[in-house]
Amino acid sequence: MGWFPCSGQSKDKLGKKNRSLDPVEPSSGKPGDASKDGSSNKIAARTFTFREMAAATKNFRGESFIGEGGFGRVYKGQLEGTSQAVAIKQLDRNGLQGNREFLVEVLMLSLLDHPNLVNLIGYCADGDQRLLVYEYMELGSLEDHLHDPMPDKAILDWNTRMKIAAGAARGLEYLHDKASPPVIYRDLKCSNILLGEGYHPMLSDFGLAKLGPVGDNTHVSTRVMGTYGYCAPEYAMTGQLTLKSDVYSFGVVLLEIISGRKAVDNSKSGNEHNLVVWARPLFKDKRKFPQIADPVLQGQYPTRGLYQALAIAAMCVQEQPNLRPMIADVVTALTYLSSQKYDSETQPAQNPLWKPCTPPRTKGKGDKKRIDGSVGPRREQTDNRF
Ligand SMILES: Nc1ncnc2c1ncn2[C@@H]1O[C@H](COP(=O)(O)OP(=O)(O)OP(=O)(O)O)[C@@H](O)[C@H]1O
Ligand SMILES: [Mg+2]
Repeated sequence: MGWFPCSGQSKDKLGKKNRSLDPVEPSSGKPGDASKDGSSNKIAARTFTFREMAAATKNFRGESFIGEGGFGRVYKGQLEGTSQAVAIKQLDRNGLQGNREFLVEVLMLSLLDHPNLVNLIGYCADGDQRLLVYEYMELGSLEDHLHDPMPDKAILDWNTRMKIAAGAARGLEYLHDKASPPVIYRDLKCSNILLGEGYHPMLSDFGLAKLGPVGDNTHVSTRVMGTYGYCAPEYAMTGQLTLKSDVYSFGVVLLEIISGRKAVDNSKSGNEHNLVVWARPLFKDKRKFPQIADPVLQGQYPTRGLYQALAIAAMCVQEQPNLRPMIADVVTALTYLSSQKYDSETQPAQNPLWKPCTPPRTKGKGDKKRIDGSVGPRREQTDNRF
């Protein structure tokens, strides 16, 4: 893991100097010093009044509602004056943890700046209201495209999938290797990869992120939080969080991208319930690799590309964290892979050697069960740490 030298401005976007974001881990630097010249061009997060938020969302009307997650409800809005399209997340006030996540999200996204991280435009902390205002991502989340495809939505082709994987890996590389101290994302999953114009991927939701180990420490200890199916086994068992926990989650996302299957699918039983459990035996035999490829691709992918992508995924989801690659190596491999464009006109579709066994995809938040047992809106967390 590389440490980015702390150079350039020492004042963060909230106007505070070298503020540690983590009440547990003292910070020796700050994330956000990570743009190439050591300074960030990021525009400071704005503050909004609740009246402005209500005006932007037409009073949080049903037609503005676009989804709901652990933090609360999400609305599409339009800012008065600029008419800029935004996504507004309103904290569910019944969840105590949300307030901490709100603060971490604002601090992290005010300091971090990378083309593959979602832009926080501002926030509202008016009275007991807590809202986050993001750049609106027209194409929604990767999860929407992979697992909840609408009839009018095109199937993600192989090239787009590799582009998304490489971009998401770059976002993670920034957090791990360029931010100082490193940031452990902790909540990498398909619903947190938002897609902009041209399927440009951006990581979102930093409420669970932690500043990574500093000095000689190899891990930070924390209460286990995250989403089932994405959580590295050693982290789930010991609560010891390392950068390699994120690499494991990335491997699960990459497997979802390749296979079109969910990390955890409650509509399936046996070893098909958990994607990694299902895929691991197949990794051992190259001839079985086509069985992992998403049937909706109808064989339209490059054989070598599939092998290489699966080899990367298999390395990332290894049980032993020290056997998993550094995210920088994953970026190198995926950048190469995404540059190798598949052309269905000139390259023949692979002949599927398998019987498609993927039942119709089902929509359901119930599949996304968090480690703390909650489903849907994230509820209170009693631990002081985040
Ligand atoms: N900036 C954005 N632009 C467009 N849509 C967004 C934006 N942020 C979130 N959404 C949409 O809002 C919905 C809810 O997102 P949210 O992040 O609150 O929950 P989640 O990621 O599904 O679950 P979790 O809370 O467990 O992370 C998702 O369907 C997502 O696509
Ligand atoms: Mg999310």
